[in-house]
Amino acid sequence: MALQHCDFLLTGIRELHTMDAGSVGVIAAADLESLPVIRDAAVAVLDGKVSALGPEPELRSQWQGKEVVDCGGGLLVPGLVDAHTHPAFAAERAEEFDWRAQGLSYLEIAERGGGILSSVRAVRQASEVELTAKVISHFQRMQAHGTVACEAKSGYGLSLEDELKSLRAIRAASTATGMEVFPTFLGAHMVPEEYANQKDQYVELLCQEVLPAVWEQGLARAADVFIEEHAFSLLRAERYLNSARDLGFALRVHSDQFVNVGGTELAVSLGAECVDHLETLSDAGLDALVTSGKTCAGLLPAVPHYLRQDADAPAQKLLKAGVPWFVATDFNPGSCYTASLPEAAHFARIRLKMTALEALAGMTLHAAQSLGAGDRLGRIAPGYEARFTVLDLPDLCHFGYGFGENPARIWCA
Ligand code: NIG
Ligand code: FE
Repeated sequence: MALQHCDFLLTGIRELHTMDAGSVGVIAAADLESLPVIRDAAVAVLDGKVSALGPEPELRSQWQGKEVVDCGGGLLVPGLVDAHTHPAFAAERAEEFDWRAQGLSYLEIAERGGGILSSVRAVRQASEVELTAKVISHFQRMQAHGTVACEAKSGYGLSLEDELKSLRAIRAASTATGMEVFPTFLGAHMVPEEYANQKDQYVELLCQEVLPAVWEQGLARAADVFIEEHAFSLLRAERYLNSARDLGFALRVHSDQFVNVGGTELAVSLGAECVDHLETLSDAGLDALVTSGKTCAGLLPAVPHYLRQDADAPAQKLLKAGVPWFVATDFNPGSCYTASLPEAAHFARIRLKMTALEALAGMTLHAAQSLGAGDRLGRIAPGYEARFTVLDLPDLCHFGYGFGENPARIWCA
């Protein structure tokens, strides 16, 4: 048979984890073992897409690559997708980390002038060029740990001008680095200082001016709100989410992190793509997620570790109940300062009691699906984009087993 031509033939793959769930978008935890794994595999890539995959001897007898890429005996997995990050920050908050070490809680730190509002001051002071340079460096760190695409939130500007600046910085940094970005507007991250006594007016500003401007300028695909006792109440969140949805935004929500005020039930009722954190998820919230079958549970397992909190999201309950999940870093300067998904996998395994495959599905197949990109990202299958992560590990069981080490690198056509 005549050889077919491709641009790249990837070889030397000890295990190819396709995460190819066939015709279904997401797969139940109980069925993960049925996902195809190919040992001693190769992948043919043409025009930026996967053309074929299979055992290496078979592929070599069928395909001629303009270039042969040796993966060095590593594992090949779909390029990792980080479905929850806050990269648009201009300054770190290392001094807060000392305060935390001294025993202060996240909320006490915020009361001392730290927290989200401290990042807001830094973003407002930064020029767009300066902020873009920071976001570029954040994306590069994520890429260095195996991330090829990420959801990226604004939310440290909290004014029309500074939110637009943040979203433009995210867009420019995406172009500069090649990181694919799913931008999310998070103007409802916190009420800014100048509106401290006029919370409703701030929500009206968001609904009447900022959301429409962001939408018209095509700067974000989704809108997010931090539903929490000290951030946005259920009523204010509902007003904001309805406005966002009416404009056409997809909805992603921070909820049930510290105090449960019913945010998950609200988010599900509005058809949100995901509800993230969930450390204080109630039975009613769990029921809402199960009934929805669509809203994804966004699991951020390094955050309670970082905040020295005991409670974790009830991941095993969610998985057993058939709720789709993703696992993300929540990369931000305050509550989780890591750009590494392999590190998040470690915490998913330790704190959420996940198998390596559950963690991996949460940062490939399910993460891509939650962002509406499950038809081109998140699996290695014919027609899918040729953006992969090589894990330098002996087998998948080692994913998350070690910590403080980086097993990942990206390969993109
Ligand atoms: O997802 N929960 C709200 N927002 C971020 C924290 C951001 C910060 O502290 O700067 C989070 O954890
Ligand atoms: Fe977050």
